[in-house]
Amino acid sequence: MLEFVRFDPSACHFPPPAVPVLPGLRLGDLRLLAGPAWPAHGQHFVRGRYALAAAYAAAGVGARGALLAPAYHCRTMLDPALALDGAIRFYPLDGDLGPDLDALAARLQEGGVAALLLTHYFGVPQAPATLEAVQALCRRHGVALVEDCAHAWPVALQRAALCQPGSGHYVVASPSKYFGCADGGMLWGAAPQALAPRGWLQEVRGWRDAWRRGRPSAPPVQAAAQHACGTDVRSRERAPSHQYQPALAASSGLAGSRWIMRHSRLERLAGQRRQHYATWSALVAGLARARPLWPSLPDGCAPYMFPLLLADDSRFAALKRAGLPIWRWDELASSDCAVSARYRRELLHLPCHQGLEADQLEWMGSQLRRVLA
Ligand SMILES: Cc1ncc(COP(=O)(O)O)c(C=O)c1O
Repeated sequence: MLEFVRFDPSACHFPPPAVPVLPGLRLGDLRLLAGPAWPAHGQHFVRGRYALAAAYAAAGVGARGALLAPAYHCRTMLDPALALDGAIRFYPLDGDLGPDLDALAARLQEGGVAALLLTHYFGVPQAPATLEAVQALCRRHGVALVEDCAHAWPVALQRAALCQPGSGHYVVASPSKYFGCADGGMLWGAAPQALAPRGWLQEVRGWRDAWRRGRPSAPPVQAAAQHACGTDVRSRERAPSHQYQPALAASSGLAGSRWIMRHSRLERLAGQRRQHYATWSALVAGLARARPLWPSLPDGCAPYMFPLLLADDSRFAALKRAGLPIWRWDELASSDCAVSARYRRELLHLPCHQGLEADQLEWMGSQLRRVLA
């Protein structure tokens, strides 16, 4: 049984985001010739959460032991373990979202863990020394390692090239966060399983959804009020949330999504994302009430989002009412990690995908400056 704390915004009536959070399909991002093949043994699921489910099952979560997950997470990282009736424990993170290695070692020492989930947040890979240390701990304790590259497609490709089915090392990706495609979840490291193909109607809907996803809506016309709203709700749960649909766990991702992934111009996408990240850093420089979690990126990194850390969450509602496209992991399982408890309310995820236009970035920056200056 897990205790969750969830921010309930239903009384706030926030408008829909005026700028798309995820990229849509754009012809200019595509090329006719397919790019290089992906690392061998990859399987394409409907979403990353179902790829995680297959990785957890192969690692023995539920049947042989618990999932050891990072204390900062979204619900879809935990749901697959709950679907397997697996216990979930948490390890704390430092302010840069790296694992607290001493605490991690102590949790593994307690025993009863089947798999450890390590997340490369926002597209930024964990430091090589951290990866080595985590892999060594997993080997020492006979625990499978599931690398969560849901935010980091290029990292997934690099790491997947190193994992072999049966080795206890799994890599999971969520390509629809990176490409303008409607669905998808990749898994490397598990023996392939039979996945049901999707029907032609779903394929057609997938192309339509991919195309529509990048279209902006109009910014709200009302002035953004400053007062706070919403409440935190506590619950005890052992079942997966509505975001996990068991019926989709054994289905394949859309063939159309695979086509888009294989035919996207990877260098162009990565370059635009890096450029937008740098623009964000400049736009928020000097804000009194917020700072970038990471003002700059490691060389060659293709970011998923721009993480912005608020000094406190008193202006969150004003930012949402302005129509800003903000994601926040404000539903979190309780743990002893102070960083995650803070980031649940104060870490904003802002889009930096390839589909953003200069005027959209400028508008988002002006709204942030107005509310957080
Ligand atoms: C870090 C992380 N892992 C896994 C997932 C699950 O991916 P998907 O949405 O494709 O199921 C998400 C989704 O937001 C995520 O952010």
